[in-house]
Amino acid sequence: MIMKPIYWENHYLVLLDQRELPERRKYITCTNVEMVIDAIKTLAVRGAPLIGVAAAYGMVLIAQEALTNKNFHGYFYKSANQLKEARPTAVNLSWAIDRMMHVYKTSLFELLYENLLKEAQQIEAEDKMLCENIACQGSNIFRGKKELQLLTHCNAGALATAGRGTAIGVISKLHELGQVKCVYVDETRPLFQGSRLTALELMENQIPCYLIADNMAADVMKNRKIDAVIVGADRIARNGDVANKIGTYNLAVLCQYHHVPFYVAAPFSTLDKTIEKGEDIPIEERESDEIRCYKGVSIAPSTVNVYNPAFDVTPHELITGIITENGVFTNPFDIKV
Ligand code: MRU
Repeated sequence: MIMKPIYWENHYLVLLDQRELPERRKYITCTNVEMVIDAIKTLAVRGAPLIGVAAAYGMVLIAQEALTNKNFHGYFYKSANQLKEARPTAVNLSWAIDRMMHVYKTSLFELLYENLLKEAQQIEAEDKMLCENIACQGSNIFRGKKELQLLTHCNAGALATAGRGTAIGVISKLHELGQVKCVYVDETRPLFQGSRLTALELMENQIPCYLIADNMAADVMKNRKIDAVIVGADRIARNGDVANKIGTYNLAVLCQYHHVPFYVAAPFSTLDKTIEKGEDIPIEERESDEIRCYKGVSIAPSTVNVYNPAFDVTPHELITGIITENGVFTNPFDIKV
């Protein structure tokens, strides 16, 4: 991957500002947790696994700042809670913070900073490894198949993880194995993660792709042979319902009609064992101007009412398989934790 989306350097967290892609490759140095929270909220850093990694390093920044605060513990807890609330849907955010909190609670004070940093680096390294394993598990599904035409939505690639990606990890593995003819990429309104990020990643990896507007997916399934749709996930309920970028559910419905297998690729940590079914997953609603405007240019009446959920829930009945590092779970889902 030419663009590394995250790294830790000289006691600070450095993030590739994904809002600026594909035009500019600009990095932001986060020197405090407020900057990390802002980067997560504004999608400078995004994608469920990468949000988890960023949050883990954010906790290291909190420890750094807390050292200069008289009420160390109070400051630590308050900031950790604020970080946890930055975005509500991706479970990786609270999962990573809970892991860091465990280190906080079990470390000697003198070793706290060092132990937190080690844990954040471990979360990053694990995520990289998980992507490799997911890619292997996913590519096995297509063993013996050639000239695959795949379709994906949003960005579940190297810009959304610390490794090669989840959905895009599977696709890039299949490409390495010489099995991919081309990938159709939904542009993914309203924030264009498909056109700005996924198309860029696929092109950098020389994976043949076609960019399509979201409303073209049905036509593509009907008029071009699509072998499978593969997407990522932000949170998975115990019954296999999946929250992912808005528009994922549309694709799953289209897949059923056109008899196209619909796969979700995600690390096991995306499964929220506290949530039984999709309707209990909190769905982030974002501001109206994301729909009314694009890059500050008005594309709708400025006062029109807007409904802007960032994610939708795909019912498990529509999912052919959930590809994890621990294997591929198929319907009926009985995901043991
Ligand atoms: O709003 P975003 O860009 O963070 O949404 C990202 C997605 O929906 C991804 O598909 C998901 O987080 C999985 S990333 C491996």
